[in-house]
Amino acid sequence: MTAPLIKVLHKMQELFQNVFAALETILLFPSLFRNHSGKGRFQVAYWRRRTLDSFADEVETLFSAPLSTRNMLTMSEKIREQFRSSLQSSPMSMLPSYTHMLPSGTEKGTFVALDVGGSTFRVALIELRGNGKMEILRVKSDCIDNNVKLLDGTLFFDWMAEKIASMLSEVGENCGRESTPLSMGLSWSFPIEQTSVSSGLVIHMGKGFLCSNGTVGQELGDLIVRSCRKQGLNVQVDAIVNDSSATLLSRAYGDPKTRMSLILGTGTNVAIHFPVHEIGLAKFGVRPQEWFDRAKHVIVNSEMSMFGGGILPMTRWDEYLNSTHLRPDYQPLEYMITGRYLGEIVRLIMVEAVETARLFGGELPHSMREPYSFDTSIVAFLEADTSASLSSSAALLQKEHTFHVSPSVEDLRFLRRVCQTVSERAAGYLATAIHSMWCLRNEVEFPHTSTTSAKTNQQVTVVESEDQSRSLSIACDGSVINKYPGFRDRCQNHLKQLTKETNMLLGIEDRATAPYISLEFAPESAILGAAVGVAVAVAEKQSDSK
Ligand code: BGC
Repeated sequence: MTAPLIKVLHKMQELFQNVFAALETILLFPSLFRNHSGKGRFQVAYWRRRTLDSFADEVETLFSAPLSTRNMLTMSEKIREQFRSSLQSSPMSMLPSYTHMLPSGTEKGTFVALDVGGSTFRVALIELRGNGKMEILRVKSDCIDNNVKLLDGTLFFDWMAEKIASMLSEVGENCGRESTPLSMGLSWSFPIEQTSVSSGLVIHMGKGFLCSNGTVGQELGDLIVRSCRKQGLNVQVDAIVNDSSATLLSRAYGDPKTRMSLILGTGTNVAIHFPVHEIGLAKFGVRPQEWFDRAKHVIVNSEMSMFGGGILPMTRWDEYLNSTHLRPDYQPLEYMITGRYLGEIVRLIMVEAVETARLFGGELPHSMREPYSFDTSIVAFLEADTSASLSSSAALLQKEHTFHVSPSVEDLRFLRRVCQTVSERAAGYLATAIHSMWCLRNEVEFPHTSTTSAKTNQQVTVVESEDQSRSLSIACDGSVINKYPGFRDRCQNHLKQLTKETNMLLGIEDRATAPYISLEFAPESAILGAAVGVAVAVAEKQSDSK
């Protein structure tokens, strides 16, 4: 036989094998081939049987392809364009608060603070002692489980009020029930349209909450006070801050140089102290002229989770997650990097691996069939397990899920590799967005130089004395950035590389003082920041009346 004929025969044999494998897959997994609209089930690109290794290779290629430094810089530049445009007109993001004064660290007092997070509600009594020192005197935490998330509209505030009443009754019989209203500060881990330091309008909420159903546009403080009244409480909300702003405030109380904060937990966000004149006038709503006379900078809640759409590449699993989400396209960055979604992305990859590469012997445990049934804490655990046998990971999987046969070591290795790949991309995308915000800040704070002018080969002169002000220590809080093994370091490494490149463009990479970005822990910052928010509001009121 001639060589070309042998080649043709081989091709035909391969074709028959593929057709046979396809028929077998259709018979074994009919569910894969239902609903090809892209809405229901995600489409499986490779219906042919694969090995776990080749599947893991594909996952790795898809997730890591966007992460070259050059690509990240390009994405950062494009995200910056989205930031700029939102700063002028978006009603959903780049939201200026009323807080223009950062704390001095000398504020004192004891305050009740509320923290509505993505998965926990906390009520606390906080003492600010001056000298940048503060303490949580008492705290009560309640898990916000799925049933609570599904409380529609005002029912959620009634649930909150019950918890507030229970905590206050522990402080004292009459606490919150006296004739003078008890003052409270609120940290809210959702967008708000601020209407004063102590009030704001509800905007659509992500993270699976239904509380914004029917309450969008209503005043958040009023909703809480009304529900508290039903519990016989006499309270008033004196400060409302987004949790990212709370993080900034809490760290600034101890370190007055703080200008930016980051949350990465169930959700993600950045708050930044930003020049007022760089923000479109329409974004401020109706504010007294005196506010504008005083405020040179203001804390902006960037709602960074909402950026990156059409810029950060998505894999087929991201596309599926997005298209089946309660709010598709609402928070593109969040859907690829936060605690609420990392587990789900890994689960979707597992579903496909079970069906096409015989992960877990080809059987997906029942307990993993529901969306969001694979918790990010397991992803983190798997990644932290560096043992050859991965036996503690196997034990955890078996404890949390219903395997008929224990996962093999090969399964576990595949899974660990997938977890690493998914979280590595998250760290890269987060670093890209942070770098973008850093560049934006430098662009507006130091308008005489920018990376753009460097690109167009204009003479740029960044004076050495500016280096420190260009550097940013970012206050960080949230379960993923604080607890996910190696996440912060990976993000920090990307940031190091990205700032190096930017400094190079500006011709300043060699200086010992070259500007940098560093990620600093700010533990308990949401609850502490809510108290600092009240203290700052009180200080502002006092300075107003002078
Ligand atoms: C919310 C933000 C919040 C962030 C971190 C996002 O989903 O939209 O308002 O700050 O999560 O909790």
